Amino acid sequence: ARSTKPGAALLAWYDVQRRELPWRARAGEAPDPYRIWLSEIMLQQTTVATVKERYAAFLSRWPAIEDLARAPVDDVLAQWAGLGYYARARNLHACARAVVDSADGFPSDEAALRRLPGIGPYTAAAIAAIAFDQPCVAVDGNVERVIARLHAIETPPRKVAPLVREKAAALMSPARPGDSVQALMELGALVCAPRTPDCPACPLSSFCAARRLRAQSDYPARALKRPK
Ligand code: ADE
Repeated sequence: ARSTKPGAALLAWYDVQRRELPWRARAGEAPDPYRIWLSEIMLQQTTVATVKERYAAFLSRWPAIEDLARAPVDDVLAQWAGLGYYARARNLHACARAVVDSADGFPSDEAALRRLPGIGPYTAAAIAAIAFDQPCVAVDGNVERVIARLHAIETPPRKVAPLVREKAAALMSPARPGDSVQALMELGALVCAPRTPDCPACPLSSFCAARRLRAQSDYPARALKRPK
């Protein structure tokens, strides 16, 4: 409703509608960085449906990061079979070793996370927010679409990132950064879909500029915009 701020409306929606996913801590439970990291690496190039099928087996074979670090890399590659992009599995193993070898364990800040094998800007922000509740904005394709529609952003794709980050940051709850990030991802995945957004189900619909323009499918802006 209009009386609520968009960030609060988003979290209220997430509290009710969020999927139970194997890597999500239950409400009130502390997240495990190892489990969050593993899920984010798997989700980089693999669908949620497939990761859901494969995640538990991986974890039961290597329940803690120390177990993974000790495993022969060929075992890790074999366990990764079918997930594709095998560089991820090599980096996963290298990252486990780096974390276990370091005195400080799993780093909690974005910059330190980015120095680890296989962790780029998106994944560093996602882990910092979800596992450590740092106020980091993780922008994937889903989040970019939600924000581009919410603000009817016309900026061309190659230049849009800073504006999207700024607008996404404005939606985050300082008290619940991890949930805020996941709520944005979840809204893009479940409601603000690429082709057929379910606007009546959206907690942000009353704030949405694209909806006001009846132009949801025009956002995010494409590289070459059709003449109007
Ligand atoms: N895609 C990437 N990270 C995700 C997460 N934490 N939950 C759902 N989908 C995701």
